[in-house]
Amino acid sequence: MKTENQFMHDYLKREHSFKPKWVAYNSRKDLRLNANHYQEKIAPLYSMKFFSKLTQKEKTDSYHLYIQFIAEMQIFLEKILVYGFFKFRKSDSDLNPEVRNSMRLLAREELYHTQGYQNFIDQQAPSKPLFIHNRFFRKAAAFCLNHNPLAITLIGAKFEAVSAPYFAELVAVIEDKNDPWFELNKIHMQDEVFHVPLQFDVYNSTVKKFGFIKTIIPMFFLYMVFQLVLLKGMRKLIKQSYPNRSTLTRNLIILPQMVYWASRKMESFQKSRVLLSKQFKAKAPRYRRALKFIYA
Ligand SMILES: [Fe+2]
Ligand SMILES: [Fe+2]
Repeated sequence: MKTENQFMHDYLKREHSFKPKWVAYNSRKDLRLNANHYQEKIAPLYSMKFFSKLTQKEKTDSYHLYIQFIAEMQIFLEKILVYGFFKFRKSDSDLNPEVRNSMRLLAREELYHTQGYQNFIDQQAPSKPLFIHNRFFRKAAAFCLNHNPLAITLIGAKFEAVSAPYFAELVAVIEDKNDPWFELNKIHMQDEVFHVPLQFDVYNSTVKKFGFIKTIIPMFFLYMVFQLVLLKGMRKLIKQSYPNRSTLTRNLIILPQMVYWASRKMESFQKSRVLLSKQFKAKAPRYRRALKFIYA
């Protein structure tokens, strides 16, 4: 298997340079968000109809819980990545050393990220997990990866592409640069910018091994798992943020607006789709037409 990939080559020079900032962040005990940590423009439902009907407490609570949702989503995604990459590296003894080492480095970075996000979540109290302990999601993701451990590559890139535009949004709205959520996203984004193109390179160097069916079907299923995670996460967020609203209001009015806001309306998600489709053009991954559901 031939790579000759300059990007991978450069990426590997980063070895260990990612570590110190995570060690420093993970030793911190001052990460708890309070009522002052609230940003209207990136709060859930902002610019949606229902936003004007929310009380300030509902807005602040949902803002904090949305942050928790992103943190849980990162942990979920990163654990899947580590599992998939580990499984694949184990199964393929002829793997090009550059690809193997890139996968190993990316997985090591994700392990540090997971600890960072977990450390952040642990300090937010009282907070109940939104979906991270859900066994069905873990099993469903593992099921996809057992059929193709690299199904996570381009699906992972889809979510990793959000890091940079989301951080740009934080830069624009957060004045306090010591805000713990701001700092976490800043150091995470510094690593993630490498991951998106890298996922495409890993995919391109290994996709032949699996072929069309074993690539598209596990990827599509994994994509659906993430859609369910979004739905479940938003339902829980709504339940915990707006406890005084009726079940009917929560499910029929707020939920559809919340899902639309989180997956389409947020500026960072719109920008991430542009970034991703540019990568699809530049890296020309095999079966890209069939994979359009990832970035459309
Ligand atoms: Fe990460
Ligand atoms: Fe990543």
